Amino acid sequence: MTCRPKSVSNMEVFSGTAHRNLGEEIASCLNTNLGSLEVSRFPDGEIHVRIEKSVRGMDVFVIQPTCPPVNENFTELLIILDALHRASAGRITAVIPYYGYARQDKRAAGREPITARMIADMLITGGADRILTVDLHSPQIQGFFDIPVDHLTAVDLLSKEMSQWDLSDSVLVAPDAGRVKMTTEYANRLNLPVVIVHKRRIGADQTAVLYVVGDVKGMRPIIIDDMITTGGTVSKCVDALIEEGAKPDVRVVATHPILVGSAADLLSRKEIVEVLVSNTVPTTMSRELRSLRVASIAPVIADALLRIHCDDSVSELFVQ
Ligand code: R5P
Repeated sequence: MTCRPKSVSNMEVFSGTAHRNLGEEIASCLNTNLGSLEVSRFPDGEIHVRIEKSVRGMDVFVIQPTCPPVNENFTELLIILDALHRASAGRITAVIPYYGYARQDKRAAGREPITARMIADMLITGGADRILTVDLHSPQIQGFFDIPVDHLTAVDLLSKEMSQWDLSDSVLVAPDAGRVKMTTEYANRLNLPVVIVHKRRIGADQTAVLYVVGDVKGMRPIIIDDMITTGGTVSKCVDALIEEGAKPDVRVVATHPILVGSAADLLSRKEIVEVLVSNTVPTTMSRELRSLRVASIAPVIADALLRIHCDDSVSELFVQ
């Protein structure tokens, strides 16, 4: 932490309801408590928010990953931003450790939306002055914002954990072309080779792995992804790797453990010995998924909040 303690006095950290545990952990790293914020519901389900102390002129941070239930959490974030804006906060940073709706970052076919852009517009309209996020599905999403975006990464955090593993005969696997850059970041830190699995998506919730580009025979694969949602990509990737002669000793590393639907079943297959993730979103499957290990991103985010507040450089925490 680089900040001068005197200068944090005008700073307030709030958390929505999406991931209070992370909010509390970040506040604790900053040696403070979360700002008092009441989130309640009208009988018809509409969200009501009240900021319980004055934030006039303050440097305010709101922590809310837009993870499932995505629409609820996103709407709640917008309403909190609006409440802070109308309460005359000096500067509002939306801290979105997981940025939902990011997969639709371009039109894959005619008459489709670009939700990653639409969400960016709504956050700015809602009152955000800057955004802090972690491992965007595609880094170019930063360009959808006309306000500053601090794009942090969990690569350093997770690669430090991985460096404790026995990495002999290991190979890093990018499960699709979009993950090659991130996988290379891990490879640079851990000095491991990279192979790519060519994936062809055949539906919104179904994927088909076609072939492995690179040699995995006799190797122990470590699959790298930004997020695990249903576990379908990882499981099909394991099939392809085993078919190509990889050892049935597979690890999986991902920043965002969304883990819905069949995820616990698919990731529990015997070839997967460990699933390492960060806590950008709440991890609800720890009991069902014995191989799940969670590393906390809270210190990294707390450090970034302090640097932003103190106008110190955040770039060394960025994706390179
Ligand atoms: C895809 O482009 C992403 O990087 C992930 O591979 C994908 O979203 C994971 O989803 P699922 O676990 O449902 O296959």
